[in-house]
Amino acid sequence: MIALQTNPDDQLPPDGYGQAHTDPPEGYDSWPEYMQDISAQAHAAMTTAANAAATSLLVFKSVHHQNTARVAEAMAEVLRADCLAPADCPYERLAECKLLGIGSGIYYGRVHAELWRWVRDLPGRSGPKPAVFIFSTSGLPIFARLWHRPLKMALTRKGFSVLDEFACRGFDTWGPLWLAGGLNRCHPNEQDLKQAREFARRMVK
Ligand SMILES: Cc1cc2nc3c(=O)[nH]c(=O)nc-3n(C[C@H](O)[C@H](O)[C@H](O)COP(=O)(O)O)c2cc1C
Repeated sequence: MIALQTNPDDQLPPDGYGQAHTDPPEGYDSWPEYMQDISAQAHAAMTTAANAAATSLLVFKSVHHQNTARVAEAMAEVLRADCLAPADCPYERLAECKLLGIGSGIYYGRVHAELWRWVRDLPGRSGPKPAVFIFSTSGLPIFARLWHRPLKMALTRKGFSVLDEFACRGFDTWGPLWLAGGLNRCHPNEQDLKQAREFARRMVK
């Protein structure tokens, strides 16, 4: 056994240390009661965050410049979501999922064929389904709602509720645009990614 040599003076707290000289905050009878309450609140907040993390999923396809992947990454950071390509996401994954983001670059006015097939073949069986949002990057995101429409209709037909849609500009060097240095250089930029994070925060709420 090791005997610790301590100086009795060291065990005394300095004057006032460890003693509450003020009244507990309003609504509490004592400091311990207050401490217990805030620690319970912190625990509840952490549990909520952990549940959100376990239950958010992003399924997307990004093939041109990884523009959509960057947006997905920003959203996943907020949602602490798993990111998967459609081909790597079996439908069983949805059973444990509460919030599902579906995203793609736009190619000739459509979402990527792999993502489209994944959505088209989603099982429409009854039972709890995740809430869904759609996101995309494109050369001309002003038309995004038009390009998202087939996805939205297919999802709604299968009983999914589509909460909202997000779209932003993506660097585009398709065909002749390449000769001119491309369209939307440097997009998605920091501002686009900030908006993607804010959008994701709204989806959680
Ligand atoms: C083959 C091809 C076709 C495209 N077609 C369109 C289009 O119809 N409309 C549009 O706004 N952008 C179009 N784009 C631009 C892409 O949508 C844009 O660059 C997008 O950000 C790519 O996303 P990604 O890097 O995640 O693949 C096209 C790009 C490519 C390579």
